[in-house]
Amino acid sequence: MRFAFAVALAAVVLGAARCQEKPSIEKKEFGKMPDGAVIEQYTLKAGPATMKVITLGGIISELHVPDKTGKLDDVVLGFNNLEGYLKGHPYFGAITGRYANRIAKGKFAIDGKEYTLATNNGPNHLHGGKVGFDKVIWKAAEVKSDHTAGLELTRVSPDGEEGYPGSLDVLVRYTLTNKGELVIDYEATTTKPTPVNLTNHTYFNLRGLKGDDILGHELMINADQYTPADGTLITTGKIEPVAGTPFDFRTFKPIGKDIAKAGGDPNGYDLNYVLNRKTDALSSAAWVRDPKTGRTLEVDTTEPGIQFYSGNFLDGTITGKGGVVYKKHSGFCLETQHYPDSPNKPDWPTTILRPGQQYRTTTIYKFGVEKK
Ligand code: GLA
Repeated sequence: MRFAFAVALAAVVLGAARCQEKPSIEKKEFGKMPDGAVIEQYTLKAGPATMKVITLGGIISELHVPDKTGKLDDVVLGFNNLEGYLKGHPYFGAITGRYANRIAKGKFAIDGKEYTLATNNGPNHLHGGKVGFDKVIWKAAEVKSDHTAGLELTRVSPDGEEGYPGSLDVLVRYTLTNKGELVIDYEATTTKPTPVNLTNHTYFNLRGLKGDDILGHELMINADQYTPADGTLITTGKIEPVAGTPFDFRTFKPIGKDIAKAGGDPNGYDLNYVLNRKTDALSSAAWVRDPKTGRTLEVDTTEPGIQFYSGNFLDGTITGKGGVVYKKHSGFCLETQHYPDSPNKPDWPTTILRPGQQYRTTTIYKFGVEKK
């Protein structure tokens, strides 16, 4: 009895000590590209969380957060080694750009001038093209404070890259805070008018990576409306109410509850929500909770939209960290963004960045636990 008490006390003290540890950043080589270029992996620690980021694609390769008993688990899909990422994967953990999501047939016009982008998703352009921001090497700089551990990733996307006009200077800053938050700031400037829509494509599974799917996670999205899309997932231009549809997540609902009625081929959720908001200030977009582990995730953003993707294309052909096979619905993505195909939808919030303007957006993923 006394022993059990001592063990419990030690666990509490250790837990508290871990939370009070100073944030830290470590760097090590993750692997080499076929041409010999070195890919680094940074380990950021702050408060209860540990996150690993690699310089290829700015990929979040690991993110460990506590469950309701204090047990840490990795809650993001990915690989233990560079080979996994080089074999090809559906954007696990990556920065996506220059334009995240789809542009119909890779075509758009700015000021009457037409542009054609690489098409890499049937007839359409997806997540920046054949070699998007997820597949390039980013320059990394450590940023640390008393309560945060962060990494600034930068690169210049050259004029004409994947068909985009203008040279784009990009900065993505990951900041892990001692309160269990991951803050992502995106900044860019351009030399010519160009569409820009940056996001992060992390697949979460709050239960940890044990082979469970995410259908039992409960989700709430702060959106009364969504942007319906056609068979190639290009938005039709309409904005419709979620009320009375399987897309209604205005109150907490298990992801699996109405998924069979959500359509899609393969079946599942893969759609953009029009977030309820009055200004473009940071506001709540979505909340997720896993009843089994008690882990919770809240997403706040300055963006007007969020793509909810339930990992429909995962089909068991990829084996990830710890030998876990990524099957359909092994993870979900909440990609904060402007609405898909905005460059061809003049009435929607613009995604065109012009010389002299500063692109700046912020998204925060807040991890917590619910002790029920
Ligand atoms: C996004 C898209 C999905 C799919 C995944 C990657 O979330 O919306 O349709 O392409 O990326 O597989």
